[in-house]
Amino acid sequence: MSQIIDGKALSLAFRTEIRDRVAELSARYGRVPCLAVIMVGDNPASRSYVRGKIKAAGFVGMDSRLVELPETVSEQRLLDIIAELNADAGVDGVLVQLPLPPHIREDRVIDAIALEKDVDGFHPMNVANLWLGRPCTVPCTPKGILRLIASTDIAIAGKRAVVVGRSNIVGKPVAKLLLDAQATVTIAHSRTENLAALTREADILVAAVGRPGMIGADMVGEGAVVIDVGINRLPDGRLVGDVDFDAVSQKAGWITPVPGGVGPMTITMLLENTLECFIRKQ
Ligand code: GUN
Repeated sequence: MSQIIDGKALSLAFRTEIRDRVAELSARYGRVPCLAVIMVGDNPASRSYVRGKIKAAGFVGMDSRLVELPETVSEQRLLDIIAELNADAGVDGVLVQLPLPPHIREDRVIDAIALEKDVDGFHPMNVANLWLGRPCTVPCTPKGILRLIASTDIAIAGKRAVVVGRSNIVGKPVAKLLLDAQATVTIAHSRTENLAALTREADILVAAVGRPGMIGADMVGEGAVVIDVGINRLPDGRLVGDVDFDAVSQKAGWITPVPGGVGPMTITMLLENTLECFIRKQ
């Protein structure tokens, strides 16, 4: 039976520390960090994530601004709003919730966010710096995953890590962070042959594919650390991960639940990144 990696409890501990830092910095600088979140359209999942981000900012005593734009907003209008927030001295972090409607070029939008306000760590210069091992803003979900692993008693150095999924937001950056922590890292994906044989060999398995329950017990080695990044809404309304939790938790050493695993840590790392951008600016 696995031990549960409780992302919710760990998040609360980090958020409490962040709240104390915010209070301290507020006394010193006379203002609190401010996070601006832009949401285009009304994708229900995005809406729920954005609500969580704004609420969490409030919990730690940060200011936030929510900019809600219709699905039909033009790319230029969105770029103009980003430029205004970039120039606004009262704003420390700018985040555009993804995905965007198909008529808006995601690359254009990501490139437009000022590097020093890029709390998501998606700007190409942040990505380059991450891969070069230079100081940068680390993307929230990968950063949270490393904290979740650190909360177990498993040392990453020398271990075999398999990341299933190769997205820019999760798969690629988390692989780099695991490499930095001295794991031997494999990135697997939808075209990987004999995936189960590969994942079974993993000491650390990160599932970030967006397919409900695709990682079954037959794909997990005895005692592995299993990190489930998936947040999938089933037709019956239930929220499940990419990992078949009931089966895999009989076999893994450690496992993150969904909900209550990676999700809350992602938001907590966003708060941390916002705090870091604020401090750098002072
Ligand atoms: N959509 C899914 N995950 C994320 C994230 O971490 N940041 C943003 N901006 N959009 C997302």
